[in-house]
Amino acid sequence: MAEQKVIGVGLVSVGWMGKVHSRAYQSIPVVYPELAIKPRLVIAADTEPSRGEYAKDVLGFEESTLDYHEVLNHPEVDVVSICAPNFLHAEIGIAAAKAGKAFWIEKPVGRGVEETASVQAAAAEAGVVSSIGFNYRHAPAVEKAKALIAEGRIGRITNIRGTFFADYSAEPNAALSWRFNRKLAGSGVLGDLMGHLVDLVQYVVGPISDVTGMTSTVIKQRPIQQMGKGTHFDVIEGGELGDVENEDYAGMMVRFADNAVGAGAVGTLEASRVSVGPRASYNFEIYGTEGSLHWDFERLNELDIAVGRKGDLVGYTRVMASPGFGDFDHFQPGAGTSMGFDDLKVIEARKFLESFVGSKHLNSNINDAVSAAAVCDAVEQSAESGQWVKVAPVPGVTAAIR
Ligand SMILES: NC(=O)c1ccc[n+]([C@@H]2O[C@H](COP(=O)([O-])OP(=O)(O)OC[C@H]3O[C@@H](n4cnc5c(N)ncnc54)[C@H](O)[C@@H]3O)[C@@H](O)[C@H]2O)c1
Repeated sequence: MAEQKVIGVGLVSVGWMGKVHSRAYQSIPVVYPELAIKPRLVIAADTEPSRGEYAKDVLGFEESTLDYHEVLNHPEVDVVSICAPNFLHAEIGIAAAKAGKAFWIEKPVGRGVEETASVQAAAAEAGVVSSIGFNYRHAPAVEKAKALIAEGRIGRITNIRGTFFADYSAEPNAALSWRFNRKLAGSGVLGDLMGHLVDLVQYVVGPISDVTGMTSTVIKQRPIQQMGKGTHFDVIEGGELGDVENEDYAGMMVRFADNAVGAGAVGTLEASRVSVGPRASYNFEIYGTEGSLHWDFERLNELDIAVGRKGDLVGYTRVMASPGFGDFDHFQPGAGTSMGFDDLKVIEARKFLESFVGSKHLNSNINDAVSAAAVCDAVEQSAESGQWVKVAPVPGVTAAIR
């Protein structure tokens, strides 16, 4: 067996994403044995003591702490996963960069573009690898859609439609978690779901240059949930109510930049956290002069594709992800056996760790986070002014550029 490179991992916050990142690291030697990378779970931090204990007892970290600085300053930690609530991302991202640690940080990296750019500056100054939790890029069917577009299989892109509709807060008594508080989260569904959609569309079609948008808050008060308890899917009956401080829905019209693979294309993007019906229907439709593509996270392993305007079989064909689509063959030996959400995080961990060991920068990076934040901020500006807003190009993104 080839000698394995051991990489010391530190984790900040042991909530939903903290667990998912931990499992992703543990899967690397199994899913990608050829990399000969062995993550070692060194230390995890959470201000909720029971979660630190969980990190040690169940997730397999060697140590836990209440103070995230101990993670960043630990001599045996090489890379850090930042899975804290949004308000801590910039502070921890900057501290990680200053400590010389490569970091894999959850979205949104900041509460708006300014905060995100402060992490970008720190990462650039320290020269550390950054990786963002934009996991939907890695779905094998999405990678295939991107490749088909780049090959010109659906012709020139004319228009797109993207919707990220979730129901995690559709219930009026759904918990008022930190996600609904401006100070703790920043924007609402814009940072939470729209940022994912913007990144996904920019990854496949290219940078967005112009935006006009609107937002609305559907449910104004909800029962208060304590930090570090439960999940944001919880429903609390009869609890004390607090105000929802950010938007439940956001929608926008967009134009793509001249250097985008989809230059000249236009589209609409919408996100909601209060949809009744769609559970996690995160999808895009991409229309071109020779065909179209449709992908939906609720059918993660399927790609609907229509190519050509002539003949008796014009219309959509459903193709299942299979070996040859993205990283599919690392998970399943043949088509038809489905992958899931956590597998996308394993692919993300692979790209992060491979970037760290120096092959090349494989995942989304802090520039992509700035770019998504700039588009989301533009929606808020446009919602206020009623005007179109130009989005400045961000150098160094991994968007689909011609
Ligand atoms: N990529 C994705 O698909 C995806 C999905 C869910 C969440 N996220 C992102 O991940 C991040 C975390 O979300 P979550 O759902 O895991 O949250 P969560 O509420 O489940 O967990 C947050 C954890 O942070 C801990 N915490 C609070 N203050 C802390 C501090 N000072 N130091 C250390 N820990 C602290 C809390 O005790 C809690 O355990 C968010 O930014 C969210 O947007 C991304």
